[in-house]
Amino acid sequence: MNYILPKIKRNGFNSEEVSAKIQSLIDKLTRDLELKKEEYLYILDNISNNDTEYLFNKAYEAKLPYYQNRVYLRGLVEISNYCKMGCKYCGINYKIKTIPRYRLLKDEIIKCCDTGYTLGYRTFVLQGGEDSFYSDEYLEELLKALKSKYNDIRITLSLGERSYESYKKLYDAGADRYLLRHETASRRLYEHLHASFMSFDNRRECLSNLKEIGYQVGAGFMVGSPTQNNKDLVEDLLYLKELSPHMVGIGPYLCHSDTELKGNLSGTLTETLIMVALVRLVLPKTLLPATTALGTLDKLGRENALKVGANVMMPNISPTESRELYEIYQDKICTGDTSIVCRGCIETRIKAFGHSIDLSVGDFIDIERNEKND
Ligand code: 5AD
Ligand code: FES
Repeated sequence: MNYILPKIKRNGFNSEEVSAKIQSLIDKLTRDLELKKEEYLYILDNISNNDTEYLFNKAYEAKLPYYQNRVYLRGLVEISNYCKMGCKYCGINYKIKTIPRYRLLKDEIIKCCDTGYTLGYRTFVLQGGEDSFYSDEYLEELLKALKSKYNDIRITLSLGERSYESYKKLYDAGADRYLLRHETASRRLYEHLHASFMSFDNRRECLSNLKEIGYQVGAGFMVGSPTQNNKDLVEDLLYLKELSPHMVGIGPYLCHSDTELKGNLSGTLTETLIMVALVRLVLPKTLLPATTALGTLDKLGRENALKVGANVMMPNISPTESRELYEIYQDKICTGDTSIVCRGCIETRIKAFGHSIDLSVGDFIDIERNEKND
């Protein structure tokens, strides 16, 4: 049973009156960069085909003053599929016994970044399950090695929840950005989707710690997860406005048949694009990836996201051998490809949709230039 956007009229059209109200709310959001709870809910409960186009165009226009049609590329290294966490939707959570586990060591990670550097990438995203193998000391050495080898790169970590002290050490060792999706801003839904030992409050605490330390921070959420409703999605919009992260990763929930949540429906392209577009209007300057999950759901999912306000893509630069083991959801794209294939593929796709690639470090537009970023 899927509760998301229950009133969406996929093939239907709203009355002129409802459409006019939705479009005036979208105009108001474009102007004021926020709406009231009930106003967001009105949009989500009533939006239909003739209004989505209006929303999508507004969201596309909203990124143009800041980013034009440029798409930042980040090289993604999936460093480990060991995970001690219990996200019930995720295909690499600690309970899954059917996959072999792998982790990349320092030299292997650096080798992936070397390949990425040659391909032109200047941001490397080191992402993994929550794997205790990566102590602060180990990561500090890795960060320092990468930063002394290349002085014109940014490093993004995406390694889950760690202590304030750990985040601070990693920042001081050279990490610039941190991605930690909040997953959902609804406490009820968070608790439904995660093991009981996981904490909604701690996740938020981590995000505010990361911001306080000075990272460029990425939050984000899934669309269409089991029991998610429109009110939950409104909570995401309100929370994102309050947190005001530098990046927001939004992807459809994709049901994985080896997880506790097997048998549920996945999120849909339209629902996800609606949320991407709304987030672009709420945070016009944020960096918004066209996610791999969207590309997995639909062949042109990522390209569609660019058309509704996304401006980042994260081509995979992991070793081809380990890619299929990093199966957070099934049928993930690019698992059989090499880094060079993904580089070419992404560029072709971006250009085919009237965008251009940007290989600069691509910091958040208003980031304060301190010593670290000079
Ligand atoms: N479907 C879609 N996204 C998923 N993620 C994890 N499992 C799934 C899934 N089954 C997302 C989570 C996580 C990010 C790395 O991938 O939002 O934060
Ligand atoms: Fe990897 Fe297209 S992005 S093959």
